[in-house]
Amino acid sequence: MTAAIRIADLHKSFQGVEVLKGVDLEVGQGEIFALLGSNGAGKTTTIKICATLLKPDSGQVRVCGHDPLRQADAVRAAISLTGQFAAVDELLTGRENLVLIARLRGLDDPAGLAARLLARFGLTEAADRRAATYSGGMTRRLDIAMGLIGDPDVVFLDEPTTGLDPEARLEVWSTVRELAEAGTTVLLTTQYLDEAEQLADRIAILHQGKIIATGTMPELKRLFPPARVEYVEKEPSLEDIFLAITSGPSAKGRDPLASPTTPQPAPSPASPIKEARR
Ligand SMILES: Nc1ncnc2c1ncn2[C@@H]1O[C@H](COP(=O)(O)OP(=O)(O)OP(=O)(O)O)[C@@H](O)[C@H]1O
Ligand SMILES: [Mg+2]
Repeated sequence: MTAAIRIADLHKSFQGVEVLKGVDLEVGQGEIFALLGSNGAGKTTTIKICATLLKPDSGQVRVCGHDPLRQADAVRAAISLTGQFAAVDELLTGRENLVLIARLRGLDDPAGLAARLLARFGLTEAADRRAATYSGGMTRRLDIAMGLIGDPDVVFLDEPTTGLDPEARLEVWSTVRELAEAGTTVLLTTQYLDEAEQLADRIAILHQGKIIATGTMPELKRLFPPARVEYVEKEPSLEDIFLAITSGPSAKGRDPLASPTTPQPAPSPASPIKEARR
C-alpha cells in the first residue's frame, strides 16, 4: 500500500493534558479512511496536525510524503480540509465563495470552475443568494465543494455529515465515493458508526490517546466471536420510513425557495422485512 498519510508515535498535549499519546496511522492512496472516537478523543487535533494547523509535540507525520512541520506549503498544496464547522462566508453568495477560493488557489477560470462545482453539488439555482440563506445541508455541500477546488490529492473531512438530514447525508456519501473512485484519498471523522460502516474502506478507533483498533469492517468483525444467528421480523426504522416518504426527485438542488415541490402521495408502508439478527 502506498501511504498518502503516515502518522507515527504522534503526541500532543494542551495545557499539560496529553490528548494524543502515541498515535500510529497509515492511510493508503485513494482510500476512504474513517477515524472514530468519542467527543474529545483527539480526532480534530489529529486532522489539524496533518493539515499544518497545529504543531505536534513529537512524532512523525507525512502527508503525500511531505512533513507538515517543515514542508507546510507542499502539504497545503496537496490537501484540503473541510472542518467540523463550516468555513463558508455567509455574507457572500455560494458562487462568490467558490470564486474566492479558486482565486486564492491561483487557478485559471475561477468563474467556470465555480459554475461546474455549483452544478455538481446541486446549488446552481441558489448560486447567487447569500450563503446565510442556505439550509444546513446546502451550506455543508458548498463547504465540501470549496474543499475540492484545486483537485487536492488528500481531502480531510471533519464530521462532514453532522447535522444533515438522511438524504443530505446520502448525497455527501456519494460525493465521497466519487472522490475516492477518482483516486483522491479521504480521511474523515464521524460520530455515526453506520457512516463509517457504509463508506469507509478502513476504520480506526481513537481512544484515550491511542489507536486501539484499525482494519476493514470484516477485519474488525473478526475481533469479536460470532453471535448465534436467529431470524426475526424487522419493523421499518424511522430512517427507512423517512427516506421512503421523502425520496423522489434527486435531493440535489433541493431548495425550497427556488423550486417549491408538489407534495407527493406517501407510499404504502414498507412491509416488514426478514433479516438475520446477530
Ligand atoms: N486549542 C486547544 N486548547 C486547549 N485544549 C484543546 C485545544 N484543542 C483541543 N483541545 C482539547 O483536546 C481534546 C481533544 O479535542 P478534539 O477537538 O481533537 O476532539 P475530537 O475527537 O475532535 O472531539 P469531537 O468529537 O467533540 O469533535 C479535548 O479535550 C479538547 O478540549
Ligand atoms: Mg472534532
